[in-house]
Amino acid sequence: MKSTDTPELVQDGRIASDRQIEYLIRADYPLVYVVTNEEARSEQALRRIALDRKRAFFHWSLTEGVVSQDGRSAGDQTRDPQAALEHVFQTKDPAIYVLRDFHPFLKAPFCVRRLRDLAAALPNTKRTVVLLGPVLELKSELEKDVAVVDYDLPTREVLRVSLDKALGGAPRGKVEMPDEPLQERAIDAALGLTAKEAENVFSKSLVQSQRVDLDVVIAEKEQIIRKTGILDFLHPEETFEGIGGLELLKAWLAKRQKAFSREARDFGLPLPKGILLLGIPGCGKSLTAKAVGSLWKMPLLRLDIGKVFGSLVGSSEEHIRVALKTAESVAPCILWLDELEKGLSGVASSGVSDAGTTARVFGTFVTWLQEKRSPVFVLATANQVSLLPPELLRKGRFDEIFYVDLPTEAERREIFRIHLAKRGRDPANYDLDALVGASEGYSGSEIEQAVISALFDAYDEKPDGGPGYLPAAMVLHALEETVPLSRTMQEEISRIRDWSRTRARFASQYAHIVAEKGPARKLEIG
Ligand SMILES: Nc1ncnc2c1ncn2[C@@H]1O[C@H](COP(=O)(O)OP(=O)(O)OP(=O)(O)O)[C@@H](O)[C@H]1O
Ligand SMILES: [Mg+2]
Repeated sequence: MKSTDTPELVQDGRIASDRQIEYLIRADYPLVYVVTNEEARSEQALRRIALDRKRAFFHWSLTEGVVSQDGRSAGDQTRDPQAALEHVFQTKDPAIYVLRDFHPFLKAPFCVRRLRDLAAALPNTKRTVVLLGPVLELKSELEKDVAVVDYDLPTREVLRVSLDKALGGAPRGKVEMPDEPLQERAIDAALGLTAKEAENVFSKSLVQSQRVDLDVVIAEKEQIIRKTGILDFLHPEETFEGIGGLELLKAWLAKRQKAFSREARDFGLPLPKGILLLGIPGCGKSLTAKAVGSLWKMPLLRLDIGKVFGSLVGSSEEHIRVALKTAESVAPCILWLDELEKGLSGVASSGVSDAGTTARVFGTFVTWLQEKRSPVFVLATANQVSLLPPELLRKGRFDEIFYVDLPTEAERREIFRIHLAKRGRDPANYDLDALVGASEGYSGSEIEQAVISALFDAYDEKPDGGPGYLPAAMVLHALEETVPLSRTMQEEISRIRDWSRTRARFASQYAHIVAEKGPARKLEIG
């Protein structure tokens, strides 16, 4: 696939992908593949480009055959995909040919060959074939000849038109007209939807509530995005106060909170890209991801990496492209990729995908990560580095790789405090020294489980003990009953500590690792 990166394009109010397509057409690219769910909107943009560049415009579909810009059919026989390509081959005037939903025919040897012929014949003739469709399916023979453009989801300007249409269609006098600030917020809330979806969502709100109801718009949008099946909108209630320890990580994240504003750009701060949290299971990686969502007050989108690979519907590459596009259109937001390596190990065992697919999906992701300019903060979490593709870990991909180890003594004290208080027990009534001493090598999750398990014991023993009843001895007993993961996976932990000491930043002051393995890369707050 040719790179479709475009040099400085003038800001003329059009969406970036329209400018990108125009650039490719002007540069005489013979074959352009536009991936979009919005056929009408993208085709309208192509018609405008044809007009501006004084080229004829044809569209083809399986049902209509080849149709010229004035609506004249080139004959029923051109419905046949092969005949359509012949038609393109024969016409010699400068033109843009849009082939709607041609992807099923890209498997046919004749069509592949004919497109390759066209790729060779069209340059310098001011003729461009645009393949327009919702999915990208390219045989490897064609990859080098085709420039791919992912069509952008609507900008605020486009969504304003959708809102105007919905308002225009509402019965006069029956609905409350939104003032300007409410219109702005409604448009913000609809970012991430196609123009048609947005119009439907606005109309639904007008019918249901007789006004623009932001709650309806947001709920509908989240519903539509969930339907993609790979992205989930989360509304986490976790806060930084609910995380014991991880001070260096928390400080880093808190410092980046304001870095997404225009003022920060003007000041010269780069846009934060994202971080990778690596570490031992149950030590607060997912917890931190959720807490960042509420601290930064940004939408938190969780990408299910397992589903990206595992689904039988659509291709894995398609899934990741759709997810990244959606995240960009909702930005500023946080894109959370939880348990990255689980998706990868699932690949090996599912038999659905192969190594080639994995490499391409990660390739798409890594390229996007490297080049993205939109305020999408990526938060990836993983516990096994060995399974991750090395290119993901290379410098420049993430702002930082943080290593999260088992909680230190001070951190365990805080974690006990948090989880006792969460269950209505006053930590001041407990001998925390004893609890901390008995939980060496336990993860945050194991500490939480011990507290919960002790609660069950306490209730079993004395159901009328009152809401404060929970003897420390029962918590100590629950700890004794648990074999912490760190005991069973000693070797893995040693390995990941070794790896992280030189390649990652510590999420906290892990003096024990320094003592055991030598000095770390850096321990200061950044
Ligand atoms: N540092 C911590 N402070 C408070 N609670 C913690 C901490 N670490 C873990 N927990 C508790 O354990 C639960 C599980 O932790 P979490 O899901 O964040 O682990 P993880 O690091 O993502 O593990 P995995 O690698 O298995 O996904 C949390 O929801 C929280 O209740
Ligand atoms: Mg997790």
